[in-house]
Amino acid sequence: STTGTPRHFLSIDDFTLPELRGMLNQAVSLKERLKQGDRPQLLKDKVLAMIFERQSTRTRVSFDVGMRQLGGQTLMLSGQEMQLSREETLADTARVMSRYVDAIMIRILSHADLLELAEAASVPVINGLTRRAHPCQIMADLMTFEEHRGDISGAKVAWVGDSNNVLHSWVNAAELFGCQLTIAVPDEYSPEKDLMLDIQRAGSAVRLIEDPREAVEGADLVITDTWVSMGDVDAAERRRVLKPYQVNTNLMALANKDALFMHCLPAHRGDEVTDEVIDGPQSVVFDEAENRLHAQKAVLCWAFGVDAN
Ligand code: CP
Ligand code: NVA
Repeated sequence: STTGTPRHFLSIDDFTLPELRGMLNQAVSLKERLKQGDRPQLLKDKVLAMIFERQSTRTRVSFDVGMRQLGGQTLMLSGQEMQLSREETLADTARVMSRYVDAIMIRILSHADLLELAEAASVPVINGLTRRAHPCQIMADLMTFEEHRGDISGAKVAWVGDSNNVLHSWVNAAELFGCQLTIAVPDEYSPEKDLMLDIQRAGSAVRLIEDPREAVEGADLVITDTWVSMGDVDAAERRRVLKPYQVNTNLMALANKDALFMHCLPAHRGDEVTDEVIDGPQSVVFDEAENRLHAQKAVLCWAFGVDAN
């Protein structure tokens, strides 16, 4: 086990702007090096355990491949197969796993459970999505915007649809990076209390409204996400209420001409976004998915205290 406080990556608002900038710079440099065939063995022989309480394609594959590219190894674990499903606590699980592995990445719905795990772990813990936050996603999103359009500070960002974990991490990022984030969500699915508190803390960086057209007007980046997140139960009702929030060609036409479209994926085509938009020239969703790999390698290097440059 390690000494001192492990370097956890749990929430965007745990960090300062220079810390996140540092990780993003490393992500860009790791991406460039990979494209040149250079795979620095920065995490040689380190073992990352990944615990999935829920489904995943991108998070699972990008962390696994990222660790291998850095010379490390991975263990893929599902909560169902662990004693977690027979009521072993997150804290005890963390204490035990910290004796075996060098870091833990977990996808678990309860953010309180994530914090319990992190509190008891003596190795770094990375949040691979909770109901509250999806910080790895937002690192990739920031990287993707800047790759296409340069510095995101001052950019006009529109979030349209449900208020969820991805939005929460975007709110934290907008505050830190100084974006002008406008959120359009229906009253029925307005932000829960802790997201509302973070929106208030962000001050003039974040505006909460109901009209999707007003949010998208003049935007440099339009973002949406599924209307039914993991853990949501009222799928039919959500699809009915959120229908006016679909990102389609008409809505995109209100944004800046060169506005980008992002979606963390998986997409529900025909619900929150149409084929025309997600497959259209403004969409960067597959760059965004690719950048999960590069951004997470940078997060891993940061967690292990390794400088990738
Ligand atoms: N965007 C994202 O986290 O995708 P997965 O659920 O496939 O990991
Ligand atoms: N908001 C979605 C993101 C999936 C990557 C969910 O929580 O299911």
